[in-house]
Amino acid sequence: MPDIDCDRFRLRTFVESLKGSDELDVRDEPIELADVADVFEGNRGAVWLRQVGPRRQELVGGVDASRTRLARAFGVPPDLLLPEVLRRLRVTPRIVELTRDEAPVQQTVLTGADADLTVLPVHLQHGLDGAPYISASVDYVRDAGTGRTNVGMRRMMLRGRQECGVDLVSPSDLRAMYEASAARGEPLPVSFVVGAHPIDHVAATMRLPVDELGLVASLRDAPLPVVKCVTNDIRVPADGEFVLEGYLDPRGHVESEGPYGEFLGYYGAVKSNPVFHLTAITHRHDALFQTATIGGHGMAHTDTAALSGLRTEATVWRALETAVREPVAVCATPSSGGMFNVRIAIRQRVPGEARNAIAAAFGCLANVKNVFVVDPDIDVFSDGQVDWALATRFQADRDLVVQGGLRALPLDPSLNGSRVGAKAGFDLTWPFGSGERLVTTVPEPPRYDGARFASLREALADGPKHFAELMAALGSRDGREIVVELDELRREGSLDRDDRGRYLIAG
Ligand SMILES: Cc1cc2nc3c(=O)[nH]c(=O)nc-3n(C[C@H](O)[C@H](O)[C@H](O)COP(=O)(O)O)c2cc1C
Repeated sequence: MPDIDCDRFRLRTFVESLKGSDELDVRDEPIELADVADVFEGNRGAVWLRQVGPRRQELVGGVDASRTRLARAFGVPPDLLLPEVLRRLRVTPRIVELTRDEAPVQQTVLTGADADLTVLPVHLQHGLDGAPYISASVDYVRDAGTGRTNVGMRRMMLRGRQECGVDLVSPSDLRAMYEASAARGEPLPVSFVVGAHPIDHVAATMRLPVDELGLVASLRDAPLPVVKCVTNDIRVPADGEFVLEGYLDPRGHVESEGPYGEFLGYYGAVKSNPVFHLTAITHRHDALFQTATIGGHGMAHTDTAALSGLRTEATVWRALETAVREPVAVCATPSSGGMFNVRIAIRQRVPGEARNAIAAAFGCLANVKNVFVVDPDIDVFSDGQVDWALATRFQADRDLVVQGGLRALPLDPSLNGSRVGAKAGFDLTWPFGSGERLVTTVPEPPRYDGARFASLREALADGPKHFAELMAALGSRDGREIVVELDELRREGSLDRDDRGRYLIAG
């Protein structure tokens, strides 16, 4: 296994790297499954429970639930996360196939009656959920037509020891593949990895027309070790914690799944969905089970919002690269689920680019709903700065773009059942070319740059100067003595001011 380290991208390794920081809350005491959800609610850190349920199993959740932790996973500071993801998307993938003996994720293999989903530490996440859900589950499926592997994240509602409901209501590549195989009356083999590095989750949430096993490798920026599953032909990362192997039966969207506390912060209704049948569980000897946080009042601090945010930002950025000349930054706010409210900073080179940015963001992703475009001086990650720009740079009758009849997310409760919805664009940039005036200039502490002069008169004779420039001209570290000198000049009729507030010699 040349240059393959099966622990480097292991979930446990990443979680251990958070130890001793504010990013991780470790609970050593035993906890019952019924109490697990409460520990995650509103908790901003990743939470590692060391003894869950009667089997005292380990469970970690919220691992991906902040930009800081996702950035750590990619080895960069938070402000460089998006550029790093965009760079890695261009990395040529390398995949290395391991034998079953070499693959840590197959250290333990459970088949037949030994493969039992109800042995795993799966807890009830929300009060009205239909059953306990496996929520950090990454699905790997081979497309029979193209031979490509599709990777996504899909939650699994327990229906028994070997059955789960899988939500395939929204349009997705997996749904298209499933419907094609169901139409042929064939089961669709699928393997779910539970317990994976944040990078694998980022790859899973991307929807790109490529082999997504390669996408996992590219985003890791390292060779990806894979292994063939025990009961189907799918290749999965060999360094995961658990794999749940099986198939979706071909009966179609026939069994009830849900309700479930969803990614917009409200419940999703009971849906008709396909059924997953388990054929094997494989796992590491010391496997760490994982859950993903999703909805509720603390939605801004959930795995789903952070992962969706990065995916939205990458998608919008790519659209902006063709729509405008100079995108500067993109933020999909976590409190809007990392998708509905998107802030874009651009450097406008020609009039109209803010509107182009709005149009590009509207069109590139159904999930994008309200778009705010700002000039580069506004930090798109600062709620306060964007609120200030909305308050002071926006005129609703001039700068609001509203477009209706667009594809919307059915889970948006404000749609009241409509299949299409409206999007709003807020152009918070200064009208082109008007941002250089004094009344649009943002006050900052004085800097005292400029040439030195022997006297105030000489400084003013050199040309009009702001007060701070006069302080610099005279090397003043106080300023009040200059007030007195200016007053003397004013009294003798020698001082004037221009429309920018600079002092100058009268006449
Ligand atoms: C934690 C998490 C759970 C998700 N669960 C589901 C789900 O149950 N059903 C679904 O359709 N999409 C779900 N998604 C969104 C999909 O994973 C995402 O749209 C993905 O890009 C779909 O991949 P595909 O189109 O390649 O199949 C989830 C996303 C996250 C981050």
